Amino acid sequence: MPITVIGSLNYDLVTYTEKVPEAGETFQANSFENHLGGKGLNEALASSRLLPEEYKGTVRMIGNVGNDSFGKELKQALVDAEVDTSFVQTIDSQSSGVAVILVEEETGENRILITAGANGELKPTEEDYEKYFPETKKKASKEKSVDFVILQNEYPEPLETISWVKTNRPSINIAYNPSPFKPELVNSNTFSQIDLLILNEGEANAVASKLFGKTYEEFNELAVQLSKLINQDNICTVVITLGSKGSVFVSKRSESSSDTASFVPSIKVAKVVDTTGAGDTFFGGVVSQLSVGSNIEEAVKFATVASSLTIRSKGAAESIPTYEAVKKERS
Ligand code: RIB
Repeated sequence: MPITVIGSLNYDLVTYTEKVPEAGETFQANSFENHLGGKGLNEALASSRLLPEEYKGTVRMIGNVGNDSFGKELKQALVDAEVDTSFVQTIDSQSSGVAVILVEEETGENRILITAGANGELKPTEEDYEKYFPETKKKASKEKSVDFVILQNEYPEPLETISWVKTNRPSINIAYNPSPFKPELVNSNTFSQIDLLILNEGEANAVASKLFGKTYEEFNELAVQLSKLINQDNICTVVITLGSKGSVFVSKRSESSSDTASFVPSIKVAKVVDTTGAGDTFFGGVVSQLSVGSNIEEAVKFATVASSLTIRSKGAAESIPTYEAVKKERS
């Protein structure tokens, strides 16, 4: 299947508040809502919803839920978005993953605490990987693969996945967002196996500090340096998101030189309601468009509009737009 997402599914318990309390302080918030989330689930929904109609049914999710009502809702949301859930397992001994989220109403910025629950049991074995990615006939050597596996750090062993896929199915593009950031997972060997690296400015500098021993003020330059570190075959692309400013990218597949980064500005939004899931929408947006043959510049522009729609309403999964909604917004 062209897009496989491996990762977390969380039930998001979201409190909307004027301010976040200090340690020891009790503060009266304004409202509370349940939403669906988890970086893995958000990325799977984004990848699927952001595909044109004729490509629906080409995204699948690998993950775990608990044997509880949260788990059923999370799985159903994927089914409703036409994501294949054959490899979403229900773990009897665990509850579904949960995220406790505080959203500051003035800015829409969030603070997130996650409890892994069933996500913590997602530790695929060699046998599992063979099942997920059965060997298929090799594509003609000139034909570049547009198959992707999307990964983040919300399950226990993403580095094992990266290593297995790159060793055994090298033509699949590994798309990785090192979030939530874990310094112990950053090493040059792993990064040399990644094909599409998407990270925010904080994560980019945290990686730089670990691998280059310094941080950068110029994200263009950092994107170029990171692009030299990742796998030089396949799609070989780095995107650094810069929040309300926009994003920069460098790609071997881009028409412009891979020695300079290109900048895509953000879309100005009158009122940012909730930024939760914006990064996941952007990630799914870039991969979905690349998987159907768009060039990187078009994919980043499309994903920028998609995530600008996500932040206009509450919740992560529920606010991820469709392909048609993004098209309409751009017209
Ligand atoms: O990226 C946003 C997501 O992070 C939320 O949906 C929450 O579940 C956490 O995983």
